[in-house]
Amino acid sequence: LASVEVDVSSLTPGMSLIVKWRGKPVVVRNRTEQEMKDGEAVNLADLKDPIARNANLPADAPATDANRTTPGKEAWMVMVQVCTHLGCIPLGQEGDFGGWFCPCHGSVYDTAGRIRKGPAPENMAVPVFKFISDTKILIG
Ligand code: FES
Repeated sequence: LASVEVDVSSLTPGMSLIVKWRGKPVVVRNRTEQEMKDGEAVNLADLKDPIARNANLPADAPATDANRTTPGKEAWMVMVQVCTHLGCIPLGQEGDFGGWFCPCHGSVYDTAGRIRKGPAPENMAVPVFKFISDTKILIG
């Protein structure tokens, strides 16, 4: 399917679900206040990949926490949950930065899915998506 509609009404803060989009797992996570704060507190100079990698933004947009999400819905991470090293599926809410951890070779991503440690070169990709209502997201 070129696009997929996702009902997120059951996701309270701290919950996620994974849908398949173009053969890839896409995670939708309703982040907690703390996860957002942790993401916002990061100094951009500390990022291995300073680019947002958000298909909804210009290709050179910086990887701020907000730029990894969508305006007005900053709690929500929508992201292709595929490690940018060699394509393994990272585990959620694991690793030193409370985000994602890839068990294949130890890449560690933060609460905004930005690469922080390990061999992966890029932040995990944010696909084209939008909220089409308060409880529905259209991916693709
Ligand atoms: Fe994820 Fe290598 S595939 S660290």
